[in-house]
Amino acid sequence: MHVIQSLRLFSIAGAFLVGFWLPIRLIGFVPPMALEICFDLLVSLVAGTNIYLHFRQPFRSYRKPADWLHVGVMLDLICLLPLSLFAFLVFDTTVSGILILNLLCARHIRQIKDFMDHFDSFPPMTYRLVPIFLTLPLLVHVVACGWIALGSGSAVLDSGAVDTYIKAVYWSFTTLTTVGYGDIVARTNSQMLFSCMVQVIGVGVFGFILSNVASLLSRSDANREHHMNNLDKVETFMRTHHIPFDLRSRTRAYYHYMWINKKGHQDRSLLEDLPAKLQAELLFVMNRSIIEKVPFLKHADQEMIEDLMSKLEPRVFVPGEKIFKAGDPGDCLYLIHTGTVQILSSEGVAIAQLGDGAFFGEMALLTDKPRSASAVAVTFCDVHLLHRSSFESVANAYPAFRTHFEQIMRLRSAG
Ligand code: CMP
Repeated sequence: MHVIQSLRLFSIAGAFLVGFWLPIRLIGFVPPMALEICFDLLVSLVAGTNIYLHFRQPFRSYRKPADWLHVGVMLDLICLLPLSLFAFLVFDTTVSGILILNLLCARHIRQIKDFMDHFDSFPPMTYRLVPIFLTLPLLVHVVACGWIALGSGSAVLDSGAVDTYIKAVYWSFTTLTTVGYGDIVARTNSQMLFSCMVQVIGVGVFGFILSNVASLLSRSDANREHHMNNLDKVETFMRTHHIPFDLRSRTRAYYHYMWINKKGHQDRSLLEDLPAKLQAELLFVMNRSIIEKVPFLKHADQEMIEDLMSKLEPRVFVPGEKIFKAGDPGDCLYLIHTGTVQILSSEGVAIAQLGDGAFFGEMALLTDKPRSASAVAVTFCDVHLLHRSSFESVANAYPAFRTHFEQIMRLRSAG
């Protein structure tokens, strides 16, 4: 692991340890002096690491006084002081109160985000959930210990340390995430003030958790959400413009088809930011089902397929739609992914019916003549277009590609 990452991990572990141990220490669990001093030295080490990490950021320098005047550095400098040792040397005893300053170190738990940013293979949800699941228990624990230190309010105190702690955690959790149930209440003024403070922090915590959970839920099915929004907009549009019932139901059928079969149709725009090679490999995997259907592609060179896939343009035709008619200028080749297309002569006589994996429109591209026949979609057709310029570039780069279509054309013309 990279040195900075290791130091960050040390800082996070230190923050966690300080956040859990110090509050317990402050509510009365006093360890032997030697252990106390060791722990304090550990806090100093963590603080020193945090200062080092601060200056390792770009544009920060040990030589610039302004960078030393940073609030974070000041707080870490306080933690850097060996407070227990100092108290022991001066007063010959431990002074609990002063140790609370070391709690400032716990704020570095937030470095978990920077730490995780260096891992590229986690699902996006992990980047949101891990910081919440690490920070929330720590906050609950600190608040619970604070509540115990103030007398635990109306919770029974003489029930043992574990019972007291569990009740305090319960109070802390309910107060931080809601406004509490009111079964454990503040009695003294200091408890009331503490409750107010925790409730204010709780508003932020509650809002943070709620917004994260809401965002996670909506993201978990973003495609469906997008589809539903589109349907709502189209439905309102059709109602406003008094579209006839039949046309409405055909429009709905189109959206339904798109949703069922082409959830990822818009996904191509997501790939645009990627380097060409990665895009080509992803398209190759995404279009596996097309490649499976076309015998010629099944055995073709992977480089040629990747090149071809990156040039294909997806298009959907609805039943009865004319794709082109005889005599039109021919500007692209069509590959049927799913659906049925009928080829009709200029007199309207059916010549052929083409299904999944078939190509059509090659003649106009190879001969530079207008379309020799018409093409009509019989069912919903999921088709991929290859424009003339792309056809030429693939055919020039891979002669087998051109030869294949010339053979098909000869067979069809003969038939
Ligand atoms: P093109 O001439 O560009 O446009 C019409 C298309 O129909 C043509 O290319 C061929 O792809 C296709 N076509 C023509 N005749 C036949 C046939 N007999 N069988 C299958 N497809 C055909």
